[in-house]
Amino acid sequence: MSSLFTPFRLKDVELRNRIVVSPMCQYSADEGLINDWHHVHLAGLARGGSGLVIAEATAVAPEGRITPGCAGLWTDEQGEAWAKAVASIKAAGAVPGIQIAHAGRKASANRPWEGDDHIAAGDPRGWETIAPSAVAFGANLAKVPRAMALADIERVTADFVATARRALAAGFEWLELHFAHGYLAQSFFSTWSNQREDAYGGDFEGRARFLLETLAAVREVWPENLPLTARFGVTEFDGSDDLEEGIEMIRRFKAGGLDLIDVSIGFSTPTANVPWGPAFMADIAARVRREADLPVTTSWFVSGAAQAEALVAEEKVDLVSLGRPLLADPHWPYRAALELGVEKGAWTLPAPYAHWLERYRAA
Ligand SMILES: Cc1cc2nc3c(=O)[nH]c(=O)nc-3n(C[C@H](O)[C@H](O)[C@H](O)COP(=O)(O)O)c2cc1C
Repeated sequence: MSSLFTPFRLKDVELRNRIVVSPMCQYSADEGLINDWHHVHLAGLARGGSGLVIAEATAVAPEGRITPGCAGLWTDEQGEAWAKAVASIKAAGAVPGIQIAHAGRKASANRPWEGDDHIAAGDPRGWETIAPSAVAFGANLAKVPRAMALADIERVTADFVATARRALAAGFEWLELHFAHGYLAQSFFSTWSNQREDAYGGDFEGRARFLLETLAAVREVWPENLPLTARFGVTEFDGSDDLEEGIEMIRRFKAGGLDLIDVSIGFSTPTANVPWGPAFMADIAARVRREADLPVTTSWFVSGAAQAEALVAEEKVDLVSLGRPLLADPHWPYRAALELGVEKGAWTLPAPYAHWLERYRAA
């Protein structure tokens, strides 16, 4: 019996297996509006057999996009386009999820394959960036953001709420708050970016405030019976001893009604020393799972079916999130099922594929 292919229930949602499509920006939207590229991309990932497909970081406001090509969900028209993507994910047997986000001081950037740096000052494609403090990320993202006034903080929290409502209306059944990777929420938590002296900065309580208030506000509009999750950078790998504080933040998320945490990296400074290597976040995720007593997933260099199976079987994670392996092969779950010798019935392929592949295997 495979652990990876055991269904997973969270609130009223059941995933057919423990494989999650980690959110992946496509940088291919126009004014936040997704198009046929996104539909084919997401439907293909769902057809490949993953249990949950989380659509890319989707901005709650125009200035919250990372690049001009990033997806958004701040208009009805965008909601209708997402509803079409949701329908194709569901039709392929996966649960549709979405990550909602504000890029903060990392916004207004060029696409990764067009430089990955801030759009130059004066270029009409760029926009003003906002953050807790007027401190630039540095390196390729050198633009200094405007420090948010209290009214900006209120507005962005309201934008998260409005986008959560739209996500629900579009049919999403799983909502992930993007509180990681040096984007706006993470930058409130991190001392690398938050130098405020008001209630939204300073000690742990101050730096946690924006995240907890946003979680509470979204929890009010996102139904109790559907999973509300977050991706959070539990450590910066900056040489400091910040993991305890990161885990305490996750305990607070749990107390605030969060259902699962995607354990990730802070990415608040270009000087971090991330220990890249096979599944290097798994032991940290396992510690979070134990100490915060919350279901977890993690990604980052999980390579191969056997490793993914072991992470779930050893109860390090509840779900395995995959990014690049699924770009390389959306049918990774099917191949994993074959490799692990998973009995038929515990994995699925749609009939127009399954019929032929079964014959091929029998031959
Ligand atoms: C093309 C691409 C886009 C990504 N976009 C996002 C995103 O929108 N939100 C996010 O939290 N992580 C994003 N990531 C990170 C992935 O979700 C994932 O955590 C990372 O690729 C590590 O997993 P992997 O080693 O299985 O690829 C992206 C990664 C890639 C390759």
